[in-house]
Amino acid sequence: MEKLAIRGGTPLRTKPFPVWPVHGEIERQGLLEVLESGIWSGIGPKERAFTDAFANFSGASHGLGVANGSISLELALRALRVGPGDEVIVPALTWLATAWAVLQVGARPVFADVCPSTWCLDPSQVRARITPRTKAILPVHLYNQMASMGELMEIAREHSLGVIEDCAHAHGMQIEGKGAGTIGHVGSFSFQSSKSMTAGEGAVLTTNDACLAEELAGLRNCGRPLTPESGATFGSNYRITEFQAAVLLGQLSRFPGQLERKAANLRHFRERMRDIAGIVPTPVNPKLTRDGFYAVSLRYDASAFGGTPRDVFIEALRAEGIPMEFTYETVYEAYLWKPGATRIRCGAGESPEEMLGFGSDCPVSEDISRNSGMKLLHHVFLGTREDVDDVVDGIAKVGSHCDQLRMHSLKTMARKKIRGLLNAVRSRS
Ligand SMILES: Cc1ncc(COP(=O)(O)O)c(C=O)c1O
Repeated sequence: MEKLAIRGGTPLRTKPFPVWPVHGEIERQGLLEVLESGIWSGIGPKERAFTDAFANFSGASHGLGVANGSISLELALRALRVGPGDEVIVPALTWLATAWAVLQVGARPVFADVCPSTWCLDPSQVRARITPRTKAILPVHLYNQMASMGELMEIAREHSLGVIEDCAHAHGMQIEGKGAGTIGHVGSFSFQSSKSMTAGEGAVLTTNDACLAEELAGLRNCGRPLTPESGATFGSNYRITEFQAAVLLGQLSRFPGQLERKAANLRHFRERMRDIAGIVPTPVNPKLTRDGFYAVSLRYDASAFGGTPRDVFIEALRAEGIPMEFTYETVYEAYLWKPGATRIRCGAGESPEEMLGFGSDCPVSEDISRNSGMKLLHHVFLGTREDVDDVVDGIAKVGSHCDQLRMHSLKTMARKKIRGLLNAVRSRS
């Protein structure tokens, strides 16, 4: 009988998958040029060239470089005049930065649940959370899906709300021909090192609104205007460097080719995954006119694998050499969010627990985060069809031998139970 690697058998794959990040001569040359030019920062020629090219690629009329994708969200909120006393509706399933940015401007993040099919903000849940204090909606285009922007924009119009698209995962993505980051009032793209276009850190804000572009330009550059004719505004230093922009020019030049390769490999992956009951990629959205995925999200059904918990299945896959990942934790339950309860400063009548959304009720996000969500990062799909075949064969191998995982499953379930009991005792004391 074939033995799973986690039980001491031979791993299905020992060869590495394509590594990330990648670079080449364009980045090397660009970095040298910056080094020797003496212009290392200050909205220089590389930054202007990159942000113009990126805005053009996304279909936005303005692109502005910013230090990272957490700060950029914060600046977008400031530009929309969100502040203390305001509420911003954010998805419960996202990286913490989406909600953290709201706290940073003194407003309260209100968590809304996501759609089971896209894992992005559910418009009906947004409607249910609107109050007279709601000032903005902050949808995230998560992993390889886009939020229902048409419906969200309609809600925003009805209630005069600002919309900021968190596009940290959505470089190059398009829905019905419209680029991510060009549908809401502002779009925010991260270039942190795991992202599908990267300079280690960095971000771009996109907008089609000339007034917002001026405001954002000042906020990130000590109040300096975008064009000499405009007046000064008010801001601090959140600039990107010329080194980052030089790297990003290289990244952008090979990005369309990478998108094509990833899309072809993803089609093959979807085709092959049809034979595996119990692990289903989030569905193809026919409205998406360009894939731009950061990760491929998958729904795991433990009942198809004799009740094997997802965490054990992932552990077994990793032992086989398949780089399966967990999804984000639901923000208000995340282990990096909890310490906030003792650190956050609140306005009058607000408690830290309320500000941090502890106890928010978002069952779809909670189920994805705790039991059923998995993801494969984009660079796994930058290789060959054979790489994709190995991923699927690894999933099939673990799936068809999950009876060997019984001991692991019992241990994991016991560990979870003990952790739950300890948390309950701690929260009472
Ligand atoms: C959805 C989402 N929003 C915002 C961010 C923040 O971006 P950065 O890491 O560049 O600060 C990230 C990055 O991890 C992210 O995944």
